[in-house]
Amino acid sequence: MGRHGRMPLEAVMTALPRVVAPTESLANARKLMDDNGIRHLPVAVDGRLRGMVREHDLAFVENRPGVDPATTPVSEAMTANVYAVAPDCPLGEVFGTMADHRYDAVVVVDEDDVVGIVTTVDAMNVLAQLLGANTANLAPSQVRERILADHRRLLALLDQIDAVARRVLDGDEPAEPRLRQWAKDLYGFLRAHLHLENEILVPALVNARGFGRERAESLRQEHREQEAVFERVLGRLARGAAPLATELKELARSLRDDIAREEREFLAPDLLEDDVIHANSIGA
Ligand SMILES: [Fe+2]
Ligand SMILES: [Fe+2]
Repeated sequence: MGRHGRMPLEAVMTALPRVVAPTESLANARKLMDDNGIRHLPVAVDGRLRGMVREHDLAFVENRPGVDPATTPVSEAMTANVYAVAPDCPLGEVFGTMADHRYDAVVVVDEDDVVGIVTTVDAMNVLAQLLGANTANLAPSQVRERILADHRRLLALLDQIDAVARRVLDGDEPAEPRLRQWAKDLYGFLRAHLHLENEILVPALVNARGFGRERAESLRQEHREQEAVFERVLGRLARGAAPLATELKELARSLRDDIAREEREFLAPDLLEDDVIHANSIGA
């Protein structure tokens, strides 16, 4: 797998996933899944991993006679033995284990704390990238979905950076190496994100009715500037933890603003609408 095989798990995980308590009801777990479009929920107590519940585990218990999902706790449906690994675990190793044991998800833990989740869908995304999946044929609405999903992951990473930065500013010394690591991870993720937008969003906007090539291309220039800003921050990574924490919080804030503005200006549903001809050719 080469480069990707050594890529750490945290580069592809969903950071800070939704979790559910073992005492919570099946109905609540079901709602969490439906609301967030997910099929796996790590089960945690005070952030510490206790198990996992999948959509089909819920369905299995819900359908048993005499079970009331509103009062039956998640502990009745969860699996206590979960495949869990550290964020720096190499992707190749993790995917190998998932394949060998037919696991459909791995929970990423720092000590015992749930920090992420990687499912087979994430593995498919890595594979698609590796195989150079033809993104040129994506319909505008698919482009939009892909970018919005990437934004959600990016926002979760920013939350994580904020939390660690706050701890550093509160004088928590052990958090300092973590902050530097998160900064590097954020950079890796951001670069991949900007690349994805240049590859699929800019062309979709060029084709969008009444949007204009020039305006679409201006997005590339913005991305170059964003990357340059981040590189300057990373270049100063070795300095004191407190100034770094302050700078990262500031950076996280401006990235959040960028994302919000981008979603307003470039990702409006009516802008990236599929026309009938395109939809038909996709279905063919
Ligand atoms: Fe962007
Ligand atoms: Fe973006």
